[in-house]
Amino acid sequence: MEKEIVLCITGASGTVYGLRLLEVLSENFTVNLIVSNSAFTVMEKELDISKEEFLRKLPENCIFFSQNQIYAPVASGSKLVQTEGVIVAPCSTGTLGAIANGISSNLIHRVCDVALKERKKLYLLIREMPLSLIHLQNMERITQAGAIVSVASPGFYHKPQTIEDMIDFVVGKVLDSFGIKHNLYKRWQG
Ligand SMILES: Cc1cc2nc3c(=O)[nH]c(=O)nc-3n(C[C@H](O)[C@H](O)[C@H](O)COP(=O)(O)O)c2cc1C
Repeated sequence: MEKEIVLCITGASGTVYGLRLLEVLSENFTVNLIVSNSAFTVMEKELDISKEEFLRKLPENCIFFSQNQIYAPVASGSKLVQTEGVIVAPCSTGTLGAIANGISSNLIHRVCDVALKERKKLYLLIREMPLSLIHLQNMERITQAGAIVSVASPGFYHKPQTIEDMIDFVVGKVLDSFGIKHNLYKRWQG
């Protein structure tokens, strides 16, 4: 059976991180993709990609769900345990707050809740600045519950030349956390 993974894209700035992850992950995994309503709005504003165009161009081995499809297979632990885990990229502070407080009001919140209860890997690539005490407390809470919290922050030690290099650095670090091999950025050689 082909390996599966769950990718959620929410309405934080940086939908391009989610799109690049989708591109790279779909080379090796069946991607269960969940896109929030706000993510489609931000995608259109930032990348000039409409919801219709995005859905038309999905990779072949991608199974798309809207945030309202709470009956999706991955909403159940029985299915989610068969996947490599869940990535939320970019993750809004709103979605962070919902997950950190166990509020499963849409499919993205639910799959994250299930990942935590099943002790599956949950990776949140948050994008916001500056951060309030509430954001930081939610990050602490969800880290204690077992999630990996990171804030999208490209490094510069690999000497990025383009915006794509900076995106690939961040995406590469997400893949590193799942042990997925890639050549998206040049590793520090000392
Ligand atoms: C252009 C634009 C940029 C946004 N950037 C961010 C951001 O960087 N971080 C964030 O937490 N929310 C951001 N938001 C707000 C979220 O989209 C909003 O809180 C939304 O309700 C999040 O819902 P979701 O988590 O279900 O996608 C942005 C909204 C817009 C329209």
